[in-house]
Amino acid sequence: MLSKNMEAALNQQMELESYASFLYLSMASWCDQKAMEGCVKFMERQSDEERQHMLRIFHYINEMDGHALVPAVNQPPHDFNTIQSMFEQVYTHEQKVTASIHKLVELSQAEKDPTTYNFLQWFVDEQREEEALMRNILDRIKLIGEGPQSLYYIDKEVEKINTTAMAAEGGEA
Ligand code: FEO
Repeated sequence: MLSKNMEAALNQQMELESYASFLYLSMASWCDQKAMEGCVKFMERQSDEERQHMLRIFHYINEMDGHALVPAVNQPPHDFNTIQSMFEQVYTHEQKVTASIHKLVELSQAEKDPTTYNFLQWFVDEQREEEALMRNILDRIKLIGEGPQSLYYIDKEVEKINTTAMAAEGGEA
């Protein structure tokens, strides 16, 4: 059974994951305007993953006899300036999510709740991987440089990363 405090904190985390899902979907749409197909697929996949994160928490709260509350989602921005700026915003959002997950871990320790502590370890690992992935993409963008000519190469790089990730998950890019 979850404490009321933990239940509220997990419901708040659902909000953050849902917002990420819509933010990344909005980014996919912006990339589509620029005909960056690799980035569209990548951001759509990220958006799907965030929805899965939200559902993972949703099911956990209900399994623990709490009440998972479907969150209201703030409208994300629709314009992201440049492709580098867009990935910087993704990285910043992921850092925010990581900090929030770490706070949940601290709460589970303070409340002596080993079940939730254990549940959160998957998210701790996931955040480490997501931050590393976004840093990797930003490093590649900086190497290639930004300009009308380089967008094509950036898109190809992101597509490669996406294909590798999909293969690792056993799906199709
Ligand atoms: Fe579920 Fe990328 O935070």
